[in-house]
Amino acid sequence: MQLKALQPLRLLVIAGSARRGSLNLRLAGAAAALAREAGASVEALDLRALQLPLYDGDLEAAGGAPEEALRLLEAVRGADALLLVTPEYNGFPTPLLINAFDWLSRLGPTDERPAGLAVTANKPVALLSASPGPLGGLRSMNFLRQYLQMAFAMIVVPQQFALSRANEAFDAQGALQDERARSTVAGVLSALGALATALRAARTPG
Ligand SMILES: Cc1cc2nc3c(=O)[nH]c(=O)nc-3n(C[C@H](O)[C@H](O)[C@H](O)COP(=O)(O)O)c2cc1C
Repeated sequence: MQLKALQPLRLLVIAGSARRGSLNLRLAGAAAALAREAGASVEALDLRALQLPLYDGDLEAAGGAPEEALRLLEAVRGADALLLVTPEYNGFPTPLLINAFDWLSRLGPTDERPAGLAVTANKPVALLSASPGPLGGLRSMNFLRQYLQMAFAMIVVPQQFALSRANEAFDAQGALQDERARSTVAGVLSALGALATALRAARTPG
């Protein structure tokens, strides 16, 4: 599928694995490259660099939410749409990804900024996953979809893609070797771009 123009979409890409050599980071990079080629402005948020502690109510009671959670909030706030690329750990999205969003959900409003749940509400998001296995991490996206819709009021586009045998999927430059895989990722991005455009039009007065 030919990727439709994504300009002027501001796309935030977050991978649920931060390890060196992560297949999901590679898929996120390949999708980001496709989105940039189509004119989107892409920000990739590295969850390892964010260094969020594991959510702990005592930590929160003692010092409030960590600064890094605010960085996540501002990144989500500044984006028209999100692309989340998640590994599957025993059928679920990774703790790294869920922990980041759990912190985001704890941020209340201040004079300077809206609450975490206010910046996610009605924000379009698309999901990808990658695994060396035959299902490509498919099950993780079903839980992630439910979590984002139910708890964060995000609008998750129906189109999604699970990259199976992901350990054999990329060339030396990090691009997807299989044309069908590239085309399916392009289809997910096109659906996300179309939804973001429609929402922007609906919100524009007059
Ligand atoms: C704790 C754990 C559980 C896993 N469970 C699954 C699983 O349910 N399904 C699957 O396809 N792969 C599973 N895997 C394998 C991951 O898909 C594989 O390690 C993958 O490379 C992780 O993503 P990354 O390369 O982006 O870090 C699991 C790996 C770990 C460490």
